[in-house]
Amino acid sequence: MRILSGIQPSGTPHIGNYFGMMRQAVELQERGETFLFIADYHALTTSPDPQVLRENVFNLALDFLACGLDVSKTVFFRQSDVPQVTELMWILNNITTVGFLERAHSYKDKIAKGFVPNAGLFTYPVLMAADILLYQSDLVPVGKDQKQHLEITRDLAIRFNNDFGETFRIPDGIIPEKVAVVPGIDGQKMSKSYHNTIPIFGTEKAIRKIVMSVVTDSTPMEAPKDPEKCNVVALYKLVASEEEVEEMKRRYRAGNYGYGHAKQALFEKLWTYFAPMRERRAALAADPDYVWDVLRDGAKRASEEAEKTMDRVRRAVGLR
Ligand code: ADP
Ligand code: TRP
Repeated sequence: MRILSGIQPSGTPHIGNYFGMMRQAVELQERGETFLFIADYHALTTSPDPQVLRENVFNLALDFLACGLDVSKTVFFRQSDVPQVTELMWILNNITTVGFLERAHSYKDKIAKGFVPNAGLFTYPVLMAADILLYQSDLVPVGKDQKQHLEITRDLAIRFNNDFGETFRIPDGIIPEKVAVVPGIDGQKMSKSYHNTIPIFGTEKAIRKIVMSVVTDSTPMEAPKDPEKCNVVALYKLVASEEEVEEMKRRYRAGNYGYGHAKQALFEKLWTYFAPMRERRAALAADPDYVWDVLRDGAKRASEEAEKTMDRVRRAVGLR
């Protein structure tokens, strides 16, 4: 079984990315042959500064390796190191109608957020379909926001197979049930675009400051509090054991336990939870050549697969 996923290099990853996606990718590498890539072609759709893009790619590679990605089990690579994906995208463009893409939510959302409606943004789902189909993926773990992209991919694969003969495997998406949406420090969905994130990696001082700024209501210290409505408790659940969560809830209900205390407990847990990953990241950061070598090796493996598929695709459509 082949499992594939991609993530955009769009800035400092946060604990929402970790619990919503990165942890799952690391767990899945035990279940089949995993392909994971850094989607730098996709990142171009929102016109990043070139130097920032380069740094983001490197940092994301560090983050994933630090979070437990095992390169003996996972083919880990940079999307643009296998340019066949853009060739496949071009071919898929010709079986994709404009009306079909106009219905994509993510395009409409991005435009609503003020991004320039360039053709890259519009055809983003076709590039994503090419990513998935190029490597003949069976399973694609993605967040809820990517569900429609997966449906588009399946549609295009079926259409291509109908028009040109069996070429692509039809992928299935899996959306993790375990982790719902991780809330940000303001209680909305944690997201880079809402500036409400807790980064996975950072200095003790910086992370502590962010945790201390988690929004709570103004119930006084002495008064009993409702743990089910509190953002601090919701975040604590991600990193503490069940008993520890129960204990915190009990203190909330009993009163004489302030939000400051709860935030302090949350910070301690978070800091220890990510400690082994922080250490690995520091070691890797000291050896950038190793990180680039890993990505190069991954690209070599991925290219072999890509060429196999492209050979069939080119023949199927009459380019050979
Ligand atoms: P952001 O919203 O910060 O820009 P991305 O859209 O780049 O994050 O998401 C990268 C991955 O992390 C996706 O698989 C997405 O589903 C997951 N993810 C992002 N934010 C959260 C969250 N708050 N809770 C759970 N998963 C999340
Ligand atoms: N669009 C995905 C996201 O923003 C990233 C991505 C690009 C991807 N290509 C993919 C995910 C292929 C899964 C499979 O999260």
